[in-house]
Amino acid sequence: MIQKFLSQQLARPSGWFGRFFTSRWLEKINVRMNVFALESLNLQGAESVLEIGFGSGSLLEAILKTGKCHHASGLELSEEMIAFVNKRLAAHIQLKTLQLAQGSIEQIPFASSSFSKVVSVNTLYFWSDTRQALRECARVLIDGGQLVLCYNAKQDMQNWPGHVHGFTLYEASEVEDLLSDVGFVNITTRSLQDPVQGLVYSVVATWLPSTI
Ligand SMILES: C[S@@+](CC[C@H](N)C(=O)[O-])C[C@H]1O[C@@H](n2cnc3c(N)ncnc32)[C@H](O)[C@@H]1O
Repeated sequence: MIQKFLSQQLARPSGWFGRFFTSRWLEKINVRMNVFALESLNLQGAESVLEIGFGSGSLLEAILKTGKCHHASGLELSEEMIAFVNKRLAAHIQLKTLQLAQGSIEQIPFASSSFSKVVSVNTLYFWSDTRQALRECARVLIDGGQLVLCYNAKQDMQNWPGHVHGFTLYEASEVEDLLSDVGFVNITTRSLQDPVQGLVYSVVATWLPSTI
């Protein structure tokens, strides 16, 4: 019962528990994964970055802090996380260097070819249509843009009882195959042993429609 509730909070933080507890919980457990995602983004300067499923907003904050992103956008399912990050990053929202939107990865509410990088950490398990989600990421990327996905290894997640409540788990090879099917190229997966999360992966894939 409690396990199911916590799994649902991870999939979509909601209510007072989501705003006050899940936000801080995510902040704690995903620190290293968000650093891994930032490294994998390899920001070069004057980039336009979209984060999907930003949770408590720590990666968005880190991206903006690098000074190598002239504009960041965030997409979230959870109204509570949007309210939390609206407050947390109010200064960036006022300066219009950050824009937040509510919605799902399967139907991204941004124009085509808007971003040089798209990143998502710990959300892959919850997508209802993985191919459609990846097609949407490709649509909003510029030619030559990159998608970064960070997620937990299937073998570790299977040991956590909460995964049975709405999590779809993937092998690294399955994620690479899905990216390739959708048309991404130069797909590279790196791994990291996180003291809190166990084995985690970061996959970087390039969208180069001119090569299809
Ligand atoms: C486990 S949390 C991870 C949050 C953050 N990325 C981190 O690593 O700390 C998953 C987040 O993704 C959001 N999410 C889940 N499915 C989504 C979807 N289909 N589209 C956009 N956001 C989604 C949830 O609302 C939640 O805030």
